[in-house]
Amino acid sequence: MGRRDGGRCRAGEPVRVPTVERFLVTGGARLAGTVEVAGAKNSVLKLMAAALLAEGTTTISNCPEILDVPLMADVLRGLGAEVVIEGDTVVITTPAELSHHADFPAVGRLRASVCVLGPLMGRCRRAEVALPGGDAIGSRPLDMHQSGLRAMGATMNIEHGKVVGRASSLHGASIGLDFPSVGATENILMAAVLADGTTIIDNAAREPEIIDLAQLLAQMGARIDGVGTATITIEGVDPVFMTAPLERLSRAGAQIDTEQDAVTVTMAERPRAVDFITMPYPGFPTDLQPMALALAAVADGHSLITENVFEARFRFVDELIRMGADARTDGHHASLRGREQLSSAPVWSTDIRAGAGLVLAGLAAEGVTEVHEVMHIDRGYPHFVEDLQKLGGQIERVG
Ligand code: EPZ
Repeated sequence: MGRRDGGRCRAGEPVRVPTVERFLVTGGARLAGTVEVAGAKNSVLKLMAAALLAEGTTTISNCPEILDVPLMADVLRGLGAEVVIEGDTVVITTPAELSHHADFPAVGRLRASVCVLGPLMGRCRRAEVALPGGDAIGSRPLDMHQSGLRAMGATMNIEHGKVVGRASSLHGASIGLDFPSVGATENILMAAVLADGTTIIDNAAREPEIIDLAQLLAQMGARIDGVGTATITIEGVDPVFMTAPLERLSRAGAQIDTEQDAVTVTMAERPRAVDFITMPYPGFPTDLQPMALALAAVADGHSLITENVFEARFRFVDELIRMGADARTDGHHASLRGREQLSSAPVWSTDIRAGAGLVLAGLAAEGVTEVHEVMHIDRGYPHFVEDLQKLGGQIERVG
């Protein structure tokens, strides 16, 4: 986050300029009730990219109504596809001829836009994709995406701020990932379905969104095995994939009841302090780390949170400290001694999940917390304020 008005801020610290639109969160209300869980941002955006792989119409339903979906639609339109968004349904019509240039502003606003790289290399055997934007939670290089495509016969370079790929043909390959990167697994998977021969991805990501993508690709005619494991196999999906977060919540004292398509969480008393370690799936998801920090800030006891996926995802802690949290960070560890109650303060969202974490902290604070830069939250959560209000949360969007 750079300097905006000449004011001085430490590297990585948000520029705390009050935003017109913000949430006012009044703490203390007990939450109770039921909300519908919408489709996942990190799934729908990749399914939209996958639609580029075949000429014709692809319909995706139960899409979350979030800012990132129309942003991704702009990326696909820039490549020549037609995209119609009606409520929670997205209809994509892909033409016979696609442009391979994805170097327009829409790409710079969305990390997921990099997931057109695989489909373009698969369909067009060439791609020019502007380096993506998205949440500043770490350096987020694309070396594994590129080395995977190189192994399939492509030349890949970064030129003039773009990832440039060319291939006379793409062939199957054995690709071992240094880290189970979600984005690299998705791009290699989407390029491989149109390559000659068999591709094996070792140490592949296993996040649920990979399974969603593979299921769409299979519907489109792809033959894929091993999705969901480190060496890809198709498995039926059911709700067990929330195991790590639910296990931590129950360790903190929550009563957890799971049914086929619903989870009920009841926390009767002050949560107990528990440690969290973020890991690739099926470990504790890094995208829930800010919520874990908010829980730890009011839990009974000392918690240690270890972030293993993104090296700059603790910027959020400074905002919690403004709310009176007893917290400190050291490299990829954050340690917190829980307080009975936090105190309200004006705070700034620095990315999607941090914004949501601040609202949760505000719900557990005394007074009215002003959460600024809420557009981050809108990028990732559909009807966030309304769902919390449904549960009895005292929150409103103003400005
Ligand atoms: C996806 O990011 C999600 N974003 C992230 O969610 C999520 O936190 C992350 O996966 C992990 O689950 C989208 O799907 C749009 P990675 P992605 O490739 O694909 C390093 C949110 O809030 N790496 O698994 O970028 C990388 O720097 C967002 O919804 C390389 O070094 O994640 C990171 O440290 C935030 N080289 C780690 O691997 C590469 O070529 C994991 O990155 C690729 C990744």
